[in-house]
Amino acid sequence: MPRWAGIVAVAAGLAFTAAGPLSGGAAPSQLPSVPTFNRHVAPILFANCAACHRADGIAPMSLLTYGEARPWAQAIKARTRERAMPPWFADPQFGQFKNSRALTQAQIDTLAAWADGGAPQGDGSPPSPPRMPQTAWQMNRAPDLVLDLPFGEFQLPPQGEVPTFTVWMKLPLRRDEWVQAIEIRPSVRGAVHHSSISLAPGLPPGTKLGRGTVFDNGPVLDGVPLFGDGRPFRTSSAEAFGTPVMFYVPGGGLLQFENGLAKLFRRDDWIAWGLHLISPGRPEKVRVQIGLWYSRGEPHHEVRTWTVNETLFINGVELKADARGARVIPDIPAGAANWAMTGTLKLDEDITVHSLWPHMHYRGKDMTFIVTEPNGRQTTILSVPKYNPHWQITYELQRPLRVRRGSLITASGHFDNSAANPHNPDPSATVRFGAQGNEEMYIPFLEVTVDREDLRVERQQQFIAQ
Ligand code: HEC
Repeated sequence: MPRWAGIVAVAAGLAFTAAGPLSGGAAPSQLPSVPTFNRHVAPILFANCAACHRADGIAPMSLLTYGEARPWAQAIKARTRERAMPPWFADPQFGQFKNSRALTQAQIDTLAAWADGGAPQGDGSPPSPPRMPQTAWQMNRAPDLVLDLPFGEFQLPPQGEVPTFTVWMKLPLRRDEWVQAIEIRPSVRGAVHHSSISLAPGLPPGTKLGRGTVFDNGPVLDGVPLFGDGRPFRTSSAEAFGTPVMFYVPGGGLLQFENGLAKLFRRDDWIAWGLHLISPGRPEKVRVQIGLWYSRGEPHHEVRTWTVNETLFINGVELKADARGARVIPDIPAGAANWAMTGTLKLDEDITVHSLWPHMHYRGKDMTFIVTEPNGRQTTILSVPKYNPHWQITYELQRPLRVRRGSLITASGHFDNSAANPHNPDPSATVRFGAQGNEEMYIPFLEVTVDREDLRVERQQQFIAQ
């Protein structure tokens, strides 16, 4: 990637200065007034789009050759200009992220100038397209443990979507393991819309693991919790259970921590594994695997998943617990276009924030994370002004952020349940909060380490105590 980044920067720079209107007498051969595919556009597409836009990729079309990209020139201009493609929704004003897919303004301008100039191919030949791993793991070593779906393969329908469902399995561990990298890998790219895994200390209360249908008229599968009367326990959202560990979206799939940081997978944990499958347009079977890479050496901090919802405000009013101690979030009325929700978290110890994941469903509109230090100084650490529920992106901070005790973290968001929201499946519906896809969620996730929880110190103390 870094190699490509250099080429792209150079190519985009050239195009930016050259892409002005044709100046008076300059001969076109001297001044390439319109960027060309071979010289300027291909490097941008290869570096920023090829991961998804290639034969067998998850995007609807390949953009690797001139012939493939040419018909899409106007669409490429439009989608990159509105920053809908590549899928990356952080406001570039705030924060720096190591997994950013954002194009530079110069790259966006180059693509637009190419489209407006008739999308020429140009002389010579384009650089050769990047080689993408087809089935190999993104990590360049074999996993320490591979987990397969409890039912093996899933027969996909010839077309359309499969309702989101969750299956369960016990971790096959003989002891607790520190996990430094996790990868979710489908055998058929384009067949997994998203997949999430959570760790839970047990099955849902009152159930035993068995076989059942995971949605109405669905196939009978292994890995389904069953109630005493044989009824299957169903949920469309694994992240509603236990501790969310990872959310796969196409183009992602690898969660990797720096040396010394790891997640703890306990021997007795269960995995709740959520899947939203889509047909790639042919009746194929898909297999999905999870690869786990254990920490090399002893980790010094456990990565914890926190949420910013210690207090919740709905349209400015704090949500109090009811008589049973539960905080029941009121429904979002049909048509409500700017329904506000804010979560806060007051820190009583020093932490380090590594990444953020704003999680909402189809009515999600925007979410912004702000840190307010005890002296009142405010910093916006992530702003997603146009939330897209189809791209559940974890924003990984370029440099981990230390946040002092006494600080307040705020996550403010809005929901749009009106017809103006292009993702809204039904603007006439009142929307409940819950785990189903057609219900809503407001979960501002943080991946943090607690500075005090230094495992090296704990190990030393254990050693001394022996
Ligand atoms: C992480 C995967 C991914 C990356 C990276 C990506 N795309 Fe896409 N793209 C998709 C998917 C999936 C769709 C179809 C669904 C959607 O629109 O979200 C799509 C749709 C599009 C469309 C709309 C096609 C239509 O039917 O109108 C255009 C144009 C496009 N992408 C251009 C690009 C360009 C240009 C880049 C790089 C600068 C890029 N994409 C990077 C996954 C990706």
